[in-house]
Amino acid sequence: MKLLAVLGDPIAHSLSPLMHNYVYQKNAIEAIYTRIKIADGKRLREVFEANDLYGANITIPHKEEAFRLADEVSQTVEKIGAVNTWVKNGDRIIGHNTDAEGFMSAAAIKSGETALVLGAGGAARAVAIALLERGIDFAVLNRTADRLAFFERYGAKVFLWENPPNERFDLIINTTSAGLKDDSLPLEINALENYLKNAKGAFDLIYGKKTPFLRLAETLGVKAQDGENMLVFQGAIAHSLFFGGDRTQIAQDMKTALRFPALWR
Ligand code: ATR
Repeated sequence: MKLLAVLGDPIAHSLSPLMHNYVYQKNAIEAIYTRIKIADGKRLREVFEANDLYGANITIPHKEEAFRLADEVSQTVEKIGAVNTWVKNGDRIIGHNTDAEGFMSAAAIKSGETALVLGAGGAARAVAIALLERGIDFAVLNRTADRLAFFERYGAKVFLWENPPNERFDLIINTTSAGLKDDSLPLEINALENYLKNAKGAFDLIYGKKTPFLRLAETLGVKAQDGENMLVFQGAIAHSLFFGGDRTQIAQDMKTALRFPALWR
């Protein structure tokens, strides 16, 4: 029996055990996926090894520490500077970032289209690197300047609220936590309305609720998508790194698990 876990803090509400255990059950995989609360990120590796984990997902606030503690990462992960999946390979830990790929699998954006990324935190970095690797032209718009240097390093166009870009974008992406626990918008309403009115779609990384951002998009007749597909795709990609399998089918199964939480929690 293999043991896997999601590591983070807070962790009690993570849906990862629900999604992964359902897939194990369905495919007769002898494994259990649990959650472990770790307050101090420096202990990640110690906990991983002490529990003899076969694999792990790492979530808020330890994705950067998980990157530092991995023995090996891909070039893409090196650019993002954050890891959300650890896979054991002998004594070595290989770090992956399935958020970036999960985003690209979920987001309705085609080559030649443009995107506006709202926010400049860890989630925005994964989204930006994913867009960059797909050759999609994008700009980053944030409230404050501190975190914009990362994006500039990769040649992205960066903007502050007081001086937003004067152009239209096909997809407006909210990577901020605005609307997660409150009713705030990720940008001043007039500017946001203007971008949404001229866009084809709106994508919010937040899942499990209709945020004010998505409500505004719908009011303006813009196609709105929440973070559920990204959640299941990042989970399915992580599963395929642990055990193989068809990612699209696994993502579908994980989505089913989310629909019937009472059965699996
Ligand atoms: P994560 O790793 O989940 O992306 P984070 O690194 O804390 O989280 O980044 C949060 C991002 O959301 C930041 O870009 C933050 O803006 P600042 O850099 O100016 O702090 C943005 N953010 C958080 N709350 C916001 C709000 N109410 N309105 C707009 N932006 C917000």
